[in-house]
Amino acid sequence: GKDGYRHYMEKELHEHPVVIGQTLQRIIDPVTRQIVLPEMDFALSELPRAVITACGSAFYAGLIGRYWLEAEARLPVDIDVASELRYRNPPLTPLGMGLLISQSGETADTLAALRALRAEKQHIVSVLNVEASTMGRESDVVLGMVAGPEISVASTKAFTAQLSVLAVLTIAIAQARETISDERAQHLLASLLDLPSRAAEVFSRQEAIQAMAAVIAEARDVLYLGRGICFPVALEGALKLKEISYIHAEAYAAGEMKHGPISLIDRDVPIVVIAPSAILFDKTLSNIQEARARGGRIMAFTDAKGAERLRDIAEQIVILPDVDAFVAPILYTIPVQVLAYEVALRKGTDVDQPRNLAKSVTVE
Ligand code: BG6
Repeated sequence: GKDGYRHYMEKELHEHPVVIGQTLQRIIDPVTRQIVLPEMDFALSELPRAVITACGSAFYAGLIGRYWLEAEARLPVDIDVASELRYRNPPLTPLGMGLLISQSGETADTLAALRALRAEKQHIVSVLNVEASTMGRESDVVLGMVAGPEISVASTKAFTAQLSVLAVLTIAIAQARETISDERAQHLLASLLDLPSRAAEVFSRQEAIQAMAAVIAEARDVLYLGRGICFPVALEGALKLKEISYIHAEAYAAGEMKHGPISLIDRDVPIVVIAPSAILFDKTLSNIQEARARGGRIMAFTDAKGAERLRDIAEQIVILPDVDAFVAPILYTIPVQVLAYEVALRKGTDVDQPRNLAKSVTVE
């Protein structure tokens, strides 16, 4: 049942901290802090490259995975939504990693992409919540999330569970490729293991998120901005808002705004910015200033240090715990999803069963 929550989505949002913790526990030995992945019949050190594919929120998790794999493991990564990837017929290096991400393990587009990647001689590695699924059976390696059943059609906890797996996989590949020092690997693992506590703190920011939701609920269009690894978080925020509140939202890489969507900005378009102080903050700040100068109403997710600099620019600020840049996309996703939920509540939509959407889409 809903355990006293109003919707499954609300319950599942509150499960983020536990789900992140459980997922990490399964692949990080609590005593030695060594990564323990399932057995693979190929060496991570020998992967020439990776191709990531998925649909919906899982695709955005993949985008974050790409930033990590490129930056930490120096592994070349190609990524596309599953419904496009196979029809592009991309040239693939044999024995690369085909990395699939899916909560259900049954999404027809992702499954078809899996089969196409197998035909191209890729090692098939799937990040799945439902391991006893078609994709689970057809994969060489299954990296399980420990998210438990996700009932709400809009994905929440599965997303942070996917990211937790991808983060650890990145560190494992970086270690195998010797692109990371032991010290940095231990530091990143420690910041991951610290995440459940930081994630729990997000729920003490409910009031600030609700104040933001009150503004967004009145809007017809909303712009989400982020840079670098926070751009996919903006994409996830915009998708969630569209899915459950039916408000049109668009996400843009903050630096790209001036090349187009800046023409949309006026008093009626709230601008949600994902801006942790450790990630391209000055660049993001100057992009926000451009938006503010055109009358845009800035709604910022940042930390205490970022809030200092945003005080005169942002109309609403949600101040989040200070975390390492590596794990920031996981933490920042949570309040951004909570924001969509709070807006949907105000709109009175069918939060758990949005119109026209299904939990698992088994047609291509
Ligand atoms: C969509 C769901 O249809 O499928 C999304 O509405 C989900 O919430 C996407 O992210 C992918 O699903 P899965 O099960 O492959 O992760």
